[in-house]
Amino acid sequence: MIFDSGVGGLSVHKDIAALLPNIDVIYMYDNAGYPYGELEPNVLVERVVKCVDVVNQQYGVDAVVIACNSASTIALPSLRERFSFPIIGVVPALKPANLIAKQGITLLATPGTVSRAYTRELIEQFVDSVPVQLIGTTELVNMAEKKLRGGQLDQQLLRQIVEPIKSHSDVVVLGCTHFPLLEDELSAMLGEQVTFVDSGEAIARRVVEVLKLSDSVVGEGSKKCHTILSSAPEPNSEALERYLSKLNFSAIQHCPLKGA
Ligand code: DGL
Repeated sequence: MIFDSGVGGLSVHKDIAALLPNIDVIYMYDNAGYPYGELEPNVLVERVVKCVDVVNQQYGVDAVVIACNSASTIALPSLRERFSFPIIGVVPALKPANLIAKQGITLLATPGTVSRAYTRELIEQFVDSVPVQLIGTTELVNMAEKKLRGGQLDQQLLRQIVEPIKSHSDVVVLGCTHFPLLEDELSAMLGEQVTFVDSGEAIARRVVEVLKLSDSVVGEGSKKCHTILSSAPEPNSEALERYLSKLNFSAIQHCPLKGA
């Protein structure tokens, strides 16, 4: 199972599917609770636990990837306490960023992720080479949702969001799984001198380790048809359906959470 508040986790799904094209994937997104970067921590944790529980009860899961930094930076202990299967979280790729940065690092994430103690500790632990700037933005998350539904992006707003990066950083950590979906747009605005890092490939390798898959399974096999569930009904969007069908997903199914 791969989980996010919206379509952002599809950026992680892409890396997992590239490494493991033959595993069954259930992607669930909690669009009824979106945006996660603005939820109170206790509300967020409760929703994530509920979503994983619903999917596990209906389908049974071998492992869960919480493909959401806003959730992973706070919900992993509760999930691990509640469920016995492996829970894989994503956290901002500050450690690899520190190895390549020469001028500065910008952590581009949600308001929730930039405010967490977990994130501050990651910076203290792993970044010693350059200064770190934190930008928390839900507008960029909304843009990624809009892009996948075929909408036009507000270029002026995008320019405003990325403006502080230009004079500060040569490395941008995409600390929200929605942001790799906007990498072309971000790169067009920031130019080649800025390098982007995200956690997708590291998470895919972690899935291989956790599921104890042998090397012969990696990269092998026909592409499986994947299931996608939303906690609130998804309005029809041809663009999103086309995008999902290219990733081998069948039609989005509504999977309500009881009592949420
Ligand atoms: N994709 C998510 C993350 O990585 C959540 C975005 C949101 O719902 O605010 O943080």
